[in-house]
Amino acid sequence: MILALESSCDETAAAICAPDGRLLAARVASQADIHRRFGGVVPEVASRNHILQVRPLVEQVLEDAGIALRDIAAFAATTGPGLVSSLLVGTSMAKALAVAEKKPFLAVNHMEGHLLSPFMEGAGPVRPNIALIVSGGHTMLVRVRGAGDYELLGRTRDDAAGEAFDKTAKMIGLPYPGGPEMDRLAAQGNPRAFAFPRSFLDGRSLEFSFSGLKTAVLYELPKLDLTQPGVLADLCASIQEAIVEVLVEKLVLASRRCGESLVTVSGGVSCNRGLRARLTERCAAEGLTLLLARPDLCTDNAGMIAFAGLQRFLAGQSSPLEADVDPNLPLVA
Ligand code: KG4
Ligand code: ZN
Repeated sequence: MILALESSCDETAAAICAPDGRLLAARVASQADIHRRFGGVVPEVASRNHILQVRPLVEQVLEDAGIALRDIAAFAATTGPGLVSSLLVGTSMAKALAVAEKKPFLAVNHMEGHLLSPFMEGAGPVRPNIALIVSGGHTMLVRVRGAGDYELLGRTRDDAAGEAFDKTAKMIGLPYPGGPEMDRLAAQGNPRAFAFPRSFLDGRSLEFSFSGLKTAVLYELPKLDLTQPGVLADLCASIQEAIVEVLVEKLVLASRRCGESLVTVSGGVSCNRGLRARLTERCAAEGLTLLLARPDLCTDNAGMIAFAGLQRFLAGQSSPLEADVDPNLPLVA
């Protein structure tokens, strides 16, 4: 069994997975309520709260799984990318446990955790696929040949898809984090009410850009009365539509170009109901097989870190205790 810790941003999380990848226990202590009054994550506040949460979480997941510390075969932690002072908390705890228990330490890349999450809970083993990772800090298209064998096909040149949701939501006055709120409001609106730009949607590029959308929303806002019935929902639905269309079409383009019929989508934005519905519809029409993670495994969690760590462990790998945290840790070296 692998015990994993995740503390790259504002969620402290711990999880334990079985040798077959099944989750035996998983807990997330969210700090969203703490950071909401600042309108975003404050790194110093985040790391202090990770320190308060991390030990009780380890004790809770052991209790949930009904096992003892000595039953754990290896201790994993996210070592990057993320906020350095936050990453240090989970990583230091996992290393300390590994030393105390004389077991291996596994350094896990947060993006690899997201990338492999669609194969959790019985959908494995990990198979070749084209992966779209859409989180708060990253938007990437990756060709996966197997666990640990990745080729970057495209990424965002400016904002990530999650940032596009969060920043436009903030401009409209929605509470932090804006993505889930936008999702909720968009469900009641008309996605064709406003025509927002779709960057690089020319059928060729696998790169993304969302900063133009932000500017377009900024220029549209003064013309609108958001208190009028339906205007806010229409605006949210149109913003969501502009993001979703680009994500879906580029994933389809990448899978065609690589001749790969299995596609996976992961990261916090893959919770979005509009995105999930469009992906399901579009992949069926294109004859592609789509794997999506369970919504609670899309946003930051330690289950995905345990699962990614398990792949490393099963391949006979471990990490040196000197392995440092890296706020810019790349998925593909
Ligand atoms: O993967 P994640 O939990 O953390 C990072 O690694 O960044 O992703 C967080 C991002 C945030 O931008 C959040 O607004 C977005 O995922 N998100 C959503 C939804 N749920 C979370 N965006 C759109 N619709 C959602 N339902
Ligand atoms: Zn994440």
